[in-house]
Amino acid sequence: MKVLVVGGGGREHAMCWKLRQSPLLGELFCAPGNPGIGEVADLVPVSADEIQKLADFAAELKIDLTVVGPEMPLTLGIADEFDRRGLPIFGPRKRAAELEGSKVFAKTFMERHGIPTAAFVVAHDSDEAAKAARKFGYPVVLKADGLAAGKGVLIPKNDEELDKALKMFFDERRFGASGDRVVVEECLVGEEVSAIALSDGKHLIPFVASKDYKRIGEDDTGPNTGGMGAHSPAGVLNVDLGKGILDQVMRPMISGLAEENRTFVGVLYAGLMLTEDGVKVLEFNVRFGDPETQPLMLRLEDDLLPVLAAGAAGGFNGQRLHFRKEAAACIVLASAGYPGTPKMGETISGIEKAREHEGVEVFHAGTATMEGKVVSAGGRVLNVCATGPELRDALKRAYDAAGEIHWPSKFLRRDIGKRILTRS
Ligand code: AMP
Ligand code: GLY
Repeated sequence: MKVLVVGGGGREHAMCWKLRQSPLLGELFCAPGNPGIGEVADLVPVSADEIQKLADFAAELKIDLTVVGPEMPLTLGIADEFDRRGLPIFGPRKRAAELEGSKVFAKTFMERHGIPTAAFVVAHDSDEAAKAARKFGYPVVLKADGLAAGKGVLIPKNDEELDKALKMFFDERRFGASGDRVVVEECLVGEEVSAIALSDGKHLIPFVASKDYKRIGEDDTGPNTGGMGAHSPAGVLNVDLGKGILDQVMRPMISGLAEENRTFVGVLYAGLMLTEDGVKVLEFNVRFGDPETQPLMLRLEDDLLPVLAAGAAGGFNGQRLHFRKEAAACIVLASAGYPGTPKMGETISGIEKAREHEGVEVFHAGTATMEGKVVSAGGRVLNVCATGPELRDALKRAYDAAGEIHWPSKFLRRDIGKRILTRS
């Protein structure tokens, strides 16, 4: 089969790495990819949101399956365009992708379908938001309605911080039109976990649970990022909780979306909080998580390609996915400035040395090549991932290998998995 992966981050590198191992794979393309992905796929110089160009490429090369990594092309309607042109694609159409594209839609949808989530109010201006915030009490959660690369959530702890947050949304318009409406919601307390499943519109194929670390600072402090590390197993779930997530969250989502004429074909991702009152949904994404996908691909035993191809072709054939018992972890190496404006263009050394460590894979995210050298070219730069018999081993291997890699502005969180290990 000829496969095209859309995107160019660590998630897409891990997907390409996994797809490359499929005996069904002929050629693998990635648009736009990155230098690491270039080691396993042919790079196509088209950016992920140039839908027409991607469709033209897929048509011209007779691509058998296109898989989409990031949310932007999905919310822009890449799946609708490919469907219109009879090009096989695994990813939700625009109407289904609204689940991630609009938090107001996601919250009201969950309310309609009895899916557990934090109590909320939709605010259209600063006064409405302030009133709602006072109702919930501090800390309170404010979310831009539209896409903001995981950075559109603020959690003020007092009047002063609330004031600042409201100014960011409504005066400075830091999130542009994405912040025209703001979801104000109660702050949930508990352990976060990511539940990811493939859907063909009717059936679900769940992945094992994973956990990511969204805050920039150790001990979960500072602003939210796209994710600074991840591991699987999540270390916080038992079998009953896992079944509860499928029954209370994932299945009602898929059937509710179908009922509302938004049939969901693609990757459904529920960001969950395990609270004292049970599981509650923090957010839905319509794609694989980044960096959760990196450890998930390392643990995935079965071939991913036939499952994605069947999903794109109309339905799974009773397929399931099996996962290794081994644990896997991912440490994100970022550049100073992230999640704001990162330093870029610095030469990176030690990637090959890190890869020599047992059980280690290094996936590229924001990298580029300059004069034959790999340089930093984004906020999240590299993902150092490892497997191991237990979570403790996977984390240690990933951290040891991460220590081999250097560039002047490199930084990482040193506490990925730490709290989970001390609990068990
Ligand atoms: P979201 O983009 O909605 O997933 O939010 C990003 C992150 O903000 C989540 O992963 C949580 O860490 C945090 N967050 C979002 N909603 C809440 C909430 N209601 N209570 C506590 N933390 C939250
Ligand atoms: N790691 C969180 C996300 O992909 O949204």
